[in-house]
Amino acid sequence: MTTTVPERVRWAVEMLAPLPSDRLLEIGPGPGVAARLVADELVDGCLVAIDRSEVAVRRTTERNERHVAAGKVIVRHCPLERFDGSGGPFDKIYAINVNLLWVRDAKDELRRITTVLKPGGALYLFFEAPAPEKGNEIARRLRAVLSDAGFEPEETNIGAFLAFIARRPG
Ligand SMILES: C[S@@+](CC[C@H](N)C(=O)[O-])C[C@H]1O[C@@H](n2cnc3c(N)ncnc32)[C@H](O)[C@@H]1O
Repeated sequence: MTTTVPERVRWAVEMLAPLPSDRLLEIGPGPGVAARLVADELVDGCLVAIDRSEVAVRRTTERNERHVAAGKVIVRHCPLERFDGSGGPFDKIYAINVNLLWVRDAKDELRRITTVLKPGGALYLFFEAPAPEKGNEIARRLRAVLSDAGFEPEETNIGAFLAFIARRPG
């Protein structure tokens, strides 16, 4: 399967810098392009990818066939709201262009994420904003939600790309 890697995905995976032994959770892999780049870096680590869309689950599974067969990638048809944490706890949890934590009250989502993150682990949220005002709105809401929950996120903004990296507090 040939793959064109969108610039935002390449940028996100560079920032994520997966280590060979990392245990990672991707929320909303969509076509599974980032999952593939991440899994290529793993040796004895593991990636669990969850998506609420059946189509996304199929595409991620197909694109990562070899890694799935080796047990390095586990793809599950499951929204974050119902994820039971299996495969965790995780060193890194990430999502790219997924409407998480900033669109509605996010206390439950954040609690679920925090529960499955290792102490010292980090949450990475990446966005490619369609317009600068949208990027500003996402950043403003994420700052508020994360700091209310005790996170002190690092923020990176390069053009349309926005990244929030939040280490688990305590
Ligand atoms: C815009 S696509 C982004 C796909 C990919 N991350 C990328 O950047 O190309 C958003 C994906 O997140 C999934 N998604 C949205 N909300 C979700 C949730 N609460 N739990 C799991 N998956 C979710 C959607 O089904 C979709 O596959």
